Amino acid sequence: MKKIFLLISLPFIIPACNNQQQANPESKKDWWKEEIVYQIYPRSFKDSNGDGVGDLKGIISELDYLKSLGITAVWLNPIYESPNDDNGYDVSDYRKILREFGTMQDFDTLLKGLHDRHIKLIMDLVVNHSSDEHEWFKQSRSSRDSKYRNYYHWWNAEKGKPPYRYSLFDINHDAWKYDSTTNAYYLHYFSRKQPDLNWENPVLRKEVYDIMKFWADKGIDGFRLDAFGFAAKDTSFPVFPNGFEKNFMLYYSMGPHLHEYLQEMNKEVFSKYKLMSVAEGAGNSFKDAHDLVDANRNELNMAYAFEGVDIAKPTGYSLTHFKEVFSRWDSAFENNGWLSIFLANHDQARMVTRFGNDSKEYREKSSTLLTSFIMTMRGTPYYYNGDELGMTNAYFTDIKQYKDMPTLNEYQYQLKQGADMTSFMKKIQFECRDNGRTPFQWDSSANAGFTTGIPWLSINPNYTTINKAAQDKDPNSVLNYFRKIVAIRKSNPILVYGKYTLLDKENPSIYAYTREWENKKWLVLLNFSAKESSINLGYHYRTKKQIINNYSATTTDEKLRPYEAVVYEL
Ligand code: NOJ
Ligand code: CA
Repeated sequence: MKKIFLLISLPFIIPACNNQQQANPESKKDWWKEEIVYQIYPRSFKDSNGDGVGDLKGIISELDYLKSLGITAVWLNPIYESPNDDNGYDVSDYRKILREFGTMQDFDTLLKGLHDRHIKLIMDLVVNHSSDEHEWFKQSRSSRDSKYRNYYHWWNAEKGKPPYRYSLFDINHDAWKYDSTTNAYYLHYFSRKQPDLNWENPVLRKEVYDIMKFWADKGIDGFRLDAFGFAAKDTSFPVFPNGFEKNFMLYYSMGPHLHEYLQEMNKEVFSKYKLMSVAEGAGNSFKDAHDLVDANRNELNMAYAFEGVDIAKPTGYSLTHFKEVFSRWDSAFENNGWLSIFLANHDQARMVTRFGNDSKEYREKSSTLLTSFIMTMRGTPYYYNGDELGMTNAYFTDIKQYKDMPTLNEYQYQLKQGADMTSFMKKIQFECRDNGRTPFQWDSSANAGFTTGIPWLSINPNYTTINKAAQDKDPNSVLNYFRKIVAIRKSNPILVYGKYTLLDKENPSIYAYTREWENKKWLVLLNFSAKESSINLGYHYRTKKQIINNYSATTTDEKLRPYEAVVYEL
């Protein structure tokens, strides 16, 4: 029996162990709350044919690896036919598989292989925009009279220039592109090759629901709705105030009728199948987020809020800020609605580099610390492939090593503005999403066992030491810690549903919280610092048992070692 002495700092009443839970309508069990989602970036996961690009057969060859992780669902980034301006987020046919990735037969094999292993499949649904090479857009741009004209947003040039819209990915940040064929501008919030679909058009909406049904009929288990907050627009295109682009979310996100569209989608698709749904983003406020996901709304299952993942900056971040953000979101959803919990995805650099410490000394401990955080918080975890090995940023030094379209466009843009390119290079070394997209490090053989050809994006040279094969063999590896804590989350609903309470709020190094559920109480202690740090709660906790610890020996009273993560049952 372990005792931890915690000194009082705040007036704090220790809830009795058998404290009754408050009636909480959202504590209701739902299968999608209990999923542990593992995100696969197919281009970088495993190449089966030596063309340097990951593919479906590659994923199929690692199905047993996925099973060994214990995860319960896979979210696949887009695998549809696409000219790949934005690595598949520019779809040219929503019912076909990208040739580089394989065939529909491969897809069916993959889906069956996952289901045989009790793993669900979540697909990316990219319908704020399509590719400019989609048949709809080709028809739409061909004539003002095309029946597809209203599938997109057009502004006839005889009305003059349309009111400025900021594009996130365009080389000039201009979201209107002039098209001479019909003397009109089309709208693209992302790149010129990603024209925005016109959700105000009911015919387009029906096309999308039919596409969703096509995949649902194949037996997939859910959709992640890419950039969906942007889909609804005020098609009178009012002038936005100068400088709006600094806060473009306020203008682009949650446009008129968005909720009606989602309710319609729910009625037409979600209600007819067993599907889970996750929005990319969470709107601009808690009210927006609740309106998207509260049970009585019949829209989506869960939001995917960015405030947490955005905290890490090249200059670092403060743990008290981190705690404040995650606690605020948790408490806003305590009684209603449901959230995702994540610290990385394909749009971010690596988790351990941004939130942990990727030095030789602390990479492993800080990786397992971050994993412990994700797996012990309320909300459905979304865990990004490669983080289970503690993969790090690539630290590319030459712009030629980067492949990410918006990064390359921004480089040209900054160059034109005469910006300081040394600091630009430093900035992308920390935050460019290519850092999170370098190929998965399978083993220490050539090209990390990812491909026998030339990888589409350079492999991180640290693959010789950081790789799956080496970690498989080591019981204390980052990978085996991941497996352990996933198994714990899966068999302990307290980690899914339990009430969260932040402790020792001002502690600059330690993130401490309890989870309580059905007469059980667990304590999570996470030392986010490279220094030994002390917890300061103010009373004696008698711990019944240690659930997990990322150090092999048990911890010392009161003090946590660098990046130590420990969970106790109280
Ligand atoms: C969000 C996706 O996650 C990102 O990768 C993509 O570039 C944009 N949406 C545009 O689809
Ligand atoms: Ca391939």
